[in-house]
Amino acid sequence: MTKTILAIETSCDDTSVALVTGRRILSNIISSQFKVHQPYGGVMPEMASRSHLEHINLCLQEALDQSGTVWTDIDAIAATVAPGLVGSLLVGLSAAKTLSLLKDLPFVGVHHLEGHIFAGCLSHTQLNPPFLCLLVSGGHTCLIEVRDCADYQVLGSTRDDAAGEAFDKVARLLGLGYPGGPIIDRLALKGDPHSFKLPEGKISLPEGGFHPYDMSFSGLKTAMLNLVKKLSDPLPVEDLAASFQYTVAQSLTKRTINCALAQNLTRIVVGGGVAANSALRQQLTELAQANSLEVYFPPLNLCTDNAAMIGYAAAEHFSRGRSSPLTLGVSSRMPITDVLKLYDWVHQSA
Ligand code: KG4
Ligand code: ZN
Repeated sequence: MTKTILAIETSCDDTSVALVTGRRILSNIISSQFKVHQPYGGVMPEMASRSHLEHINLCLQEALDQSGTVWTDIDAIAATVAPGLVGSLLVGLSAAKTLSLLKDLPFVGVHHLEGHIFAGCLSHTQLNPPFLCLLVSGGHTCLIEVRDCADYQVLGSTRDDAAGEAFDKVARLLGLGYPGGPIIDRLALKGDPHSFKLPEGKISLPEGGFHPYDMSFSGLKTAMLNLVKKLSDPLPVEDLAASFQYTVAQSLTKRTINCALAQNLTRIVVGGGVAANSALRQQLTELAQANSLEVYFPPLNLCTDNAAMIGYAAAEHFSRGRSSPLTLGVSSRMPITDVLKLYDWVHQSA
């Protein structure tokens, strides 16, 4: 029988609570802290924790009300426990553990990146592993072969900045505000993507040549800085935004298609905040089509952080008999390949 999961996501700067039954989203409440962090041009960790604490109960109430569920309909409580900001993760985890104890329901800890990986499946009901996931968020950028839930191989990743981080830093450099991705995306629509030739970061191999799937965005960021220093006011921000976005999208698209072809994976699933980017959507869709590959993007509200994707990832584990101990802690870093440790509680309690 399909299980109903109440899920909580507080790993960074969005407080979110959702109820999901299988791939059906009953509610997905997201309270953004955008206004809290905007004056600082980035996420202030302590302010993020405080804000989660202030909003979590309201989100919980709204998620329950909107879903039309009652507590007896719910089979498990899930929360993101890694990776992310420790203080932020603790708020969601504490709420989930409290509810689990109070309502006598199993608790399922979730790895945040699994949420992004499975957001595509949540929105495409027939989609299942195996597939290649291009995970592009504010904190992570990698290519993961997804063989099954919890069976992952990381085939490539950024050696420095994550793609979303590069968008945010370049937006700050251009004085555009925070978060940078959506602002650059909007401005780029009015600019010429070929007005400035920018370097696509490549990772050299000791034996010569370049790593086929690893990427780098710090050189591109420096090139943007040098360009801005050289140009006189007023800056052609639309052309700069379009050229930068085009270069990032190209770097991601080339590696993803090459990786899918080399690994014989015919389906590509994109996840994370940068999956909302219009240039990436366009370039990847076109090149995938040209190579007879299928590409799946979640709708925009499931690209950025949300609890529905955490609920669906939890359901995948829960349906395989996995749940987590109430002694589980949080972790700021945890490789995706370690995800089964979250459910390894027979060994932990033995
Ligand atoms: O997945 P997410 O919500 O949070 C993390 O887990 O990091 O991703 C947030 C990141 C931010 O860096 C934001 O600038 C970027 O996603 N982003 C975008 C777009 N929308 C959000 N980047 C490029 N284009 C967009 N349309
Ligand atoms: Zn995320």
